[in-house]
Amino acid sequence: MHLSSKPYDPKDFYYRKAKKEGLRARSAYKIEEIAERFRLLEPGSVVLDLGAAPGGWLQVMADKVGPRGAVIGVDLVPIAAIGKPWVKTAVLDIRAPDFEQRLAELHPGPYRLVTSDMAPKTSGIKDVDEARSLELSNLALDTAARILTPGGNFVCKVFMGSGFDAFIARCKKLFERTKVVRPEATRERSYEHYVVALSLRQKPLGKPEEG
Ligand SMILES: C[S@@+](CC[C@H](N)C(=O)[O-])C[C@H]1O[C@@H](n2cnc3c(N)ncnc32)[C@H](O)[C@@H]1O
Repeated sequence: MHLSSKPYDPKDFYYRKAKKEGLRARSAYKIEEIAERFRLLEPGSVVLDLGAAPGGWLQVMADKVGPRGAVIGVDLVPIAAIGKPWVKTAVLDIRAPDFEQRLAELHPGPYRLVTSDMAPKTSGIKDVDEARSLELSNLALDTAARILTPGGNFVCKVFMGSGFDAFIARCKKLFERTKVVRPEATRERSYEHYVVALSLRQKPLGKPEEG
């Protein structure tokens, strides 16, 4: 989502690099940078990618976790097969009441990393788009808090706007460390940032998140 009115080059350096390297989305370089910087992926890791279409993040993460790991990608729209048996995808809406049940049918977990690059369809109305985006980020965080192993990590796209501070506060409560980063491949005029929340705190059994 580009909230600025300044025109941007849709076929910029990262777009061309992704094309050349056979990656489905230029955004693949964002997760590559974040995963390397925070050492989030290793062979054998089990990862859930929310809002995974067309599959650029899946391609990068599949290579990093390898055949001993698993990468599960879900989106509102179908994702063409990645061609690696340890990658599974499904059409799922995170807002659906049975989302986590259907996710569990796809892979029982538990997950070491949950990523979300989800973005709503833009309306062009800044407040509406920010609110929709924040809703998706909060839903991603809810899911991450439930399905990650203690010590697991969460990466989530989030737009600077009202509700951003409250989102960061929720991450800080749930995780040991929370950082806000802007990977190099982020378009200059975009308001998007990525929250990297590290090491899910152990939750007392049966207690919902407080506050
Ligand atoms: C920027 S794209 C993701 C690009 C992806 N990271 C890649 O590398 O190919 C954002 C995606 O979020 C998905 N999305 C939006 N709302 C969603 C929802 N409620 N549930 C699941 N996915 C959603 C969109 O369909 C879209 O494909």
